[in-house]
Amino acid sequence: MSEGGIRLILNGEAVTASMAPGGVVLDFLRRERGLRGTKEGCREGDCGACTVLLGERAGSGMRYRAVASCLLPVAELAGRHLVSIEGLDGERLSAIQRAIVEEGATQCGFCTPGLVVALTGFLLTSPGLGEEDAMEAIDGNICRCTGYASIRRAVRRLVDGLELEPGALETRHEALAAAGLLPPLFAGIAARLDALEHAPASADAGGIPVAGGTDLFVVEAARLRKERLRLLSRERRGEPVSEEGNLIVLDAASTMEELRQSPLLEACFPSWRRFLGLHSSTLIRNRATPAGNIAHASPIGDMSVVLLALDARLQIGRDGERARTVALDRFFLGYKETDLAPGELITRILVPRPAPASRFNFEKVSRRQHLDIASVNTAFSCTVEDGAIGTARLSAGGVAPIPLYLAESSAWLSGRPVSVATALGAAERAAAEITPISDVRGSADYKRRLLRRLVLAHFVTCFPGLPQEEIAHAIA
Ligand SMILES: Cc1cc2nc3c(=O)[nH]c(=O)nc-3n(C[C@H](O)[C@H](O)[C@H](O)COP(=O)(O)OP(=O)(O)OC[C@H]3O[C@@H](n4cnc5c(N)ncnc54)[C@H](O)[C@@H]3O)c2cc1C
Ligand code: FES
Ligand code: FES
Repeated sequence: MSEGGIRLILNGEAVTASMAPGGVVLDFLRRERGLRGTKEGCREGDCGACTVLLGERAGSGMRYRAVASCLLPVAELAGRHLVSIEGLDGERLSAIQRAIVEEGATQCGFCTPGLVVALTGFLLTSPGLGEEDAMEAIDGNICRCTGYASIRRAVRRLVDGLELEPGALETRHEALAAAGLLPPLFAGIAARLDALEHAPASADAGGIPVAGGTDLFVVEAARLRKERLRLLSRERRGEPVSEEGNLIVLDAASTMEELRQSPLLEACFPSWRRFLGLHSSTLIRNRATPAGNIAHASPIGDMSVVLLALDARLQIGRDGERARTVALDRFFLGYKETDLAPGELITRILVPRPAPASRFNFEKVSRRQHLDIASVNTAFSCTVEDGAIGTARLSAGGVAPIPLYLAESSAWLSGRPVSVATALGAAERAAAEITPISDVRGSADYKRRLLRRLVLAHFVTCFPGLPQEEIAHAIA
């Protein structure tokens, strides 16, 4: 990072951040710049009070993302456009602010700046501009006062009043500014960023690898403030999702939201978008990466469990060396222990394209729908030939020290007829194959029962022709 600090455009002004690159943007705004509209709630990505927009050059225009500033390293700001609530606050109320005021969707006001910024992110980035799209965009913004009914009314009022075709994402900021839905500072911002002189953001090979930072900055923010960082977001190799022969290739540094929005993944794995929507919230998915989920090796990592069932392989390498390929089901060696050697990075994730008659399902039980990690999660994929299961892969999280590929249950399933008896047999075998422990998320016995039921749920979803009452009876 340059001696002179990190250059960015903050709202409408070109500025230099002098804070440590490993400090977080929330502190940069509140302490260094005195912009206190961005609120500090949890500092763990959980509440959305600190939401900001991060804009970067993309193609002929810009790409914005709503992110949690409490988990965003200052180093990420180099050469980018940072928008805080102050940048959205003009002399007159914006359409978003008006809708919130008119529907009484603010009481103490603590969550309101985050909501306004997240809804601006919705206008800037959502492929669809409907009420449910807007509600999805604020799934990471918690309000302790309003009970959400008035927030939904405000969202409805906002989208009903929009006279705007969604248009191309890269130039949407210009269209919104021209329509008066965004302040004038967004007009011409791409050219201003191009003209901004700044040192390249850290690609420091010796630094701590940070992808989205949504695991790292929750637990290690104090240490990271003093460390050199290697920003993997600045080392993107290509498209988030691409195809190579019979493989679907995920760039390891793609974000979970990019993967969720991928038409190719949705076409290959029905309900993919819904499944990935169960991971965290929009704010977190806008930064979190699949490689971070895997390398963190949490026993309940949603993406690890999904990719185990999809028979994914990892490409792993050091700078300048030829990458090696490791099957994901051999990557996790013990609790938070992986096959990664020091200095190695996951670069790509390879997923076999599913055969035409394949099934896939993901189930997750957590204490609340958004912003919560699983008590138990599980994924299932199989091929089907002549009324029988061909190859099957079953995985589960929260039931062992690692995200677990259930090898024995998967082998048992292969070749079995698609029937209620097979569903029940698989559920029993899966429950016998795991070694859960009792913790805050439930007793070992509860987790075993949960997995049994979730395996039956895989069969209900994947094989709707099976007698559902019989399975429901077994679940009860
Ligand atoms: C509010 C909140 C809610 C969450 N909800 C969920 C949830 O529902 N489900 C879930 O599974 N997780 C959840 N998480 C956890 C987290 O978002 C995910 O694990 C995420 O995928 C981590 O990715 P990241 O890019 O942010 O990782 P980072 O924090 O950047 O990195 C995590 C670790 O991986 C290493 N690393 C990163 N990239 C690579 C690479 N390419 N090669 C080698 N090592 C690498 C880093 O050095 C670090 O040790 C949540 C987190 C928060 C804050
Ligand atoms: S302060 Fe709660 S998400 Fe950042
Ligand atoms: S208005 Fe008080 S937290 Fe939302």
